[in-house]
Amino acid sequence: MIESTIRVLVSAGSKHGATAEIGERIGSVLSGRGYRTTVSPPDRIEDVSGFDAVILGSAVYAGHWMEAAKDLAELVAEASPPVPTWLFSSGPIGDPPKPDEDPVDVAEILTATSARDHRVFSGKIDKSKLSFGERAILVAVRAADGDFRDWDEIEGWASEIADELGRRRPTSTLRPDQG
Ligand SMILES: Cc1cc2nc3c(=O)[nH]c(=O)nc-3n(C[C@H](O)[C@H](O)[C@H](O)COP(=O)(O)O)c2cc1C
Repeated sequence: MIESTIRVLVSAGSKHGATAEIGERIGSVLSGRGYRTTVSPPDRIEDVSGFDAVILGSAVYAGHWMEAAKDLAELVAEASPPVPTWLFSSGPIGDPPKPDEDPVDVAEILTATSARDHRVFSGKIDKSKLSFGERAILVAVRAADGDFRDWDEIEGWASEIADELGRRRPTSTLRPDQG
């Protein structure tokens, strides 16, 4: 494998762990492709200036991103020079996935970060891990439970990002001055 000098941050807001696992899988794809990849929860990131690309995601609750992920999006939006950014949301549950239309309100985050792409991935609900209040909401909206994450789709998207980063700058350590 050719080691790249491109530093990529992968961060995912997650309440019950399912979206954090998506972030880890995306990170594995990027590091497998030779990028210097940091996978870290959004509340641990205070500065994005050390990264050449950011992949930022969040679980969706009541149609919105989690606060920590929104805060990190703000940091990304303020970064100077701008950092190329990709966004993902994970929420819809079931087959076919529900909610099926506009499961998340990310329009402002997309604009503020000038994100290259935003993907919505199906999520996971393990009812045994939820609070009483969360379970009550799910009963009210008649949501299914189960793990609907499509790892092939997630890895495919991560590969597309890896390809794009490879086109942006040379990745060979044979030319470290340009890498
Ligand atoms: C109380 C509750 C509300 C939810 N609201 C939404 C929603 O509005 N839209 C959506 O797409 N998914 C919604 N979901 C599904 C979660 O986003 C999904 O389970 C996700 O995979 C959770 O990720 P996490 O384990 O990283 O927290 C909701 C789940 C719960 C428990």
